[in-house]
Amino acid sequence: MSAPAAAAITGAGSGIGRELALACAREGLAVALTDIEPATLAQTAVMAEALGADVLARACDVGRADHVEAFARECDARFGGVDWLFNNAGVAILGPAWAATDEDWQWLWSVNVRGVANGVRSFVPRMMARGTRAHVVNTASAAGLATLAGSSVYSATKHAVVAFSECLARDLEQAGADVGVSVLCPSLLPTGIHQSGRNRPSALANTVAPAAAYDERVRQGMAASPIDAADVAAMTLDAIRARRFYVVPHAQTGDSVRRRMQAILDDHRALHPGVAARTHQE
Ligand SMILES: NC(=O)c1ccc[n+]([C@@H]2O[C@H](COP(=O)([O-])OP(=O)(O)OC[C@H]3O[C@@H](n4cnc5c(N)ncnc54)[C@H](O)[C@@H]3O)[C@@H](O)[C@H]2O)c1
Repeated sequence: MSAPAAAAITGAGSGIGRELALACAREGLAVALTDIEPATLAQTAVMAEALGADVLARACDVGRADHVEAFARECDARFGGVDWLFNNAGVAILGPAWAATDEDWQWLWSVNVRGVANGVRSFVPRMMARGTRAHVVNTASAAGLATLAGSSVYSATKHAVVAFSECLARDLEQAGADVGVSVLCPSLLPTGIHQSGRNRPSALANTVAPAAAYDERVRQGMAASPIDAADVAAMTLDAIRARRFYVVPHAQTGDSVRRRMQAILDDHRALHPGVAARTHQE
């Protein structure tokens, strides 16, 4: 089995994406970096080059299928394709479910869900055609495994990313492709995510004031994180090597997942007492 030679990372200008880029560079991989923010993207490129990596950096909006396809073509031309793809770019808003505007939905769906779908559509067929071992990591969130008041739109997009990734893994398995999949589900940790509005397109500008109370809760949650973006990147690379699907970096996430699953099973058992003990396989 040959070692991975190149990785593509979206949202590489900041936070988890930057640390994924640097972790790949330290592993000796060439890195193809993209972000909607050219200045921070250029900073990550300089940092990766300083680690000795061959770097391709191109600004792109992951919500635009044509941008992502052009990026994949450039990766082909420069590196002969990539072995690892990190669909990581993401944005967040907070507030009660009923206050989410149509623009909120369009923006988050475009970046968080269609961004991942665009990456998969452009890169995965290329990986399958090359036939060498490859891996895709989609960044979801703990908010894609459980739910929290104030995170309805974000959580809906991240649940979509988890479901999409699960189906992608099944489709690849059924196709007999040597392309692994992982879904990254961190809880709150300090990055630029609470300032996502910096990249919000003017055509989808916020039409209601952001909810300050939620903002404070997020800041506190970030400050309390026992791990940082570099830890998350290291855990993610370990998961690729082990071909682990769910990458859940925060220990406490297990409790919220267990509570949610238990509530589903309890309500199911209340409706169907006779089948409660049966092991169900789809
Ligand atoms: N930080 C957390 O607490 C946390 C928790 C769970 C999941 N996540 C997820 O981690 C991923 C990375 O976010 P982060 O926390 O590092 O935040 P971040 O804001 O530091 O980084 C996100 C990057 O995505 C880029 N981006 C935004 N819109 C884009 C677009 N349309 N096209 C291309 N790039 C775009 C931003 O410019 C930024 O560089 C996101 O998917 C986020 O939802 C973060």
